[in-house]
Amino acid sequence: MTTRIILDVDTGIDDSLAIAYAASSPELELVGITTTYGNISQEEATRNSLILLELLHHDAPVYPGAAKPYARELFKPYARHIHGEDGIGNQLAGEPIRKAEEKHAADFIIEQAKLHPQQLTVIAVGPLTNLALALDRCPELPQLLGHLIIMGGAVTVPGNVTPTAEANIYSDPEGAARVIEAGFHMTMVGLDVTMQTLLPQRLVEKWRAQGTALSAFLTGMMEFYIDAYQKFKPGIAGCALHDPLAVGVAIDPSFVRTRSMHIQVETGASVAVGRTSEIEGPTGATSQQIEVALEVDADRFLEHFLQRVMHIHSTTAN
Ligand code: BDR
Ligand code: CA
Repeated sequence: MTTRIILDVDTGIDDSLAIAYAASSPELELVGITTTYGNISQEEATRNSLILLELLHHDAPVYPGAAKPYARELFKPYARHIHGEDGIGNQLAGEPIRKAEEKHAADFIIEQAKLHPQQLTVIAVGPLTNLALALDRCPELPQLLGHLIIMGGAVTVPGNVTPTAEANIYSDPEGAARVIEAGFHMTMVGLDVTMQTLLPQRLVEKWRAQGTALSAFLTGMMEFYIDAYQKFKPGIAGCALHDPLAVGVAIDPSFVRTRSMHIQVETGASVAVGRTSEIEGPTGATSQQIEVALEVDADRFLEHFLQRVMHIHSTTAN
C-alpha cells in the first residue's frame, strides 16, 4: 500500500534530495509540494521545487505558501552560505517551464486532508508556518491528518543556528509551538538523529560519474553543500541528510527509534528562542505527546537513500 504524502519544503539542497528521494520511492505517492521560506525565500523555494520536478519528470503540483513567520516578521537571515545564492548550490540555469498553482499551500493541505481523512501524511522539512496557518483555517486538521513528520528540533543535542535551536524551529518559533501543541499524530526527526546521517564526498563522486542531467545537477549541489559543511564544521565526514531522513521515516519508520514526549518550544524574546525541550506534561486525554526520534540506523538508511536516489550502493562506491 502506498502512502499519500505532501512535502512541505524550503528548497534548499537537502530539501531537493528529500524531493528526489520521495519521487523515486514507490511506497510514497507524492500528491503535491507546498513551499515556504527558510533556506531562501518562498518564491525561490517554489522555483527550485519546480526545476527539480522537471528534472525528475514528476508532475506533482507545487503550492506556494508562507513568505514570513506565523506571528512575527522575518528575522532569521536566509541560509545562502549553506545552500548557495539560489538555494541549489549555484546550479540555477534558467526558470522552470511549469508554473506554481494559485491555491495557497495551507488550503491545499486542508483540502487533501479532508478528501482523504486519516490517509494523508505531511512531511514538513522547513519552518512550520504553513501548518500553523492551516490550523487557524481548519482547527480539526490534527484529527484529519494521518501522520505529520517534521524535520526540526534538537532535544538531546545542541542547535545548529544558536547553541540551543535548530534552523527550522528557530525560523518560526511561534508557528512551531502552535503545531507541536496541536495534537497531531506526529514524529519529530531532529538534529538528534539527522546529524548522524552523513553523506561522504566519495559517494558524491561516484554519483557524478553517472553523467545524467539529474546526477550532474544533484551532485553539483551536493559538492557545494559538503564544502559549506567543511567550512563551518571542519573535519566532519560529509554533509547531513536532514530532510531526506524525514522522508525515510515515512517509507520505513524502523529507520529510527522514537520516544513519546511532551515538547515545549521556546518562543518570544528568550535567548533560547527556538529551543525544543522535553517537559512534564498532562497525561490522559489532554496529553499532546509526540514521537521524538532519538536513535537512527544510519547505515541502513544511507544504503536505502543511495539506492533510491543515486542507484548505487555504499559498498560498491569505494
Ligand atoms: C534544516 O534547516 C534547513 O537548512 C535544512 O533544509 C533542514 O531542513 C536543518 O536544520
Ligand atoms: Ca529544509
